[in-house]
Amino acid sequence: MTDPAGLHFAHARAPGKINLFLKVGQLQDDGYHELATAFQAVSLYEEVRAYPADDFSVSFTGTVDTTGLSTDGSNLAIKAARLLARKTGYTGGVRLEVEKNVPIAGGMGGGSADAAATLVACDALWGTEASRDELVAMAAKLGADVPFALTGGTAIGTGRGDQLSPALAKGRFHWVLALAEFGMSTPDVYTALDRHREKHAQDIFPASLQPTVDADVLQALRAGDPRQLAEALRNDLQAPALGLAPGLGSILELGERVGALAGIVSGSGPTLAFLVPDADSALELQVELSASGLHALRVTGPVHGARLVQEW
Ligand code: C5P
Repeated sequence: MTDPAGLHFAHARAPGKINLFLKVGQLQDDGYHELATAFQAVSLYEEVRAYPADDFSVSFTGTVDTTGLSTDGSNLAIKAARLLARKTGYTGGVRLEVEKNVPIAGGMGGGSADAAATLVACDALWGTEASRDELVAMAAKLGADVPFALTGGTAIGTGRGDQLSPALAKGRFHWVLALAEFGMSTPDVYTALDRHREKHAQDIFPASLQPTVDADVLQALRAGDPRQLAEALRNDLQAPALGLAPGLGSILELGERVGALAGIVSGSGPTLAFLVPDADSALELQVELSASGLHALRVTGPVHGARLVQEW
């Protein structure tokens, strides 16, 4: 792609996600928990523009506050670009411009979406022509949620959440998100769950069992029935997230009282996702939540995973 100034660049877009179901198994030796999750990609996107450069750099703009984001080698977008260069033998660099719309440290996989979009954008810019399977393998090295940001749609994740199989989902689901003004650390939420389980033996996930996604979630998705899905939503990270951020509990109650079929903490939080029956109810709920001073957004799912955007 060439912009009006004659500069070559590539633009890729990747979605944020909601976990419709998240069952957390035991902590493994690698520091990750075995889990079974159902992801849905939703219409809130990270935009990554990649420009030729000799070294690697990243800058941020967007609708969320990006101050304080690291722009050095610890940033996941830079890690993604470096990994692709290493794997394909590309010797140059890239200047990345990331437009962030997914809340930071919000439990919606925004950083993972940056990494997925960066892989796709750099692959196009550099002409490295990595296969989809190669990109997915690189994505899994970058983080548990990155493969899903690449593939999108609705999918079941096992292992760390990175072993994906597509889930059959009919139609479109309508969600209202309540965004928090603060972020939460994913490892802290998992640690809070482990501490709780250590104290309450009855809540320990049996070592002999592999977590699985409940059949009623899959059935609700196949039927495209939001009421059925509302009954099946589950997130094992919700209780520890509410323990760390107790104010979220009353917002969940508020959303359900004023029209949501159900509300759930998204991933490790603090973003809350409210499922509603249709587009009109989404607008009504957004108005209600906004009237209570909350930052509420409407999104739909499923949407596609990371892909190139043709700007002109
Ligand atoms: O892979 P990612 O960087 O997104 O994971 C962030 C952290 O979340 C991990 O370091 C780990 O503490 C926790 N995690 C986990 N089990 C998973 C996924 C993430 O414990 N399956």
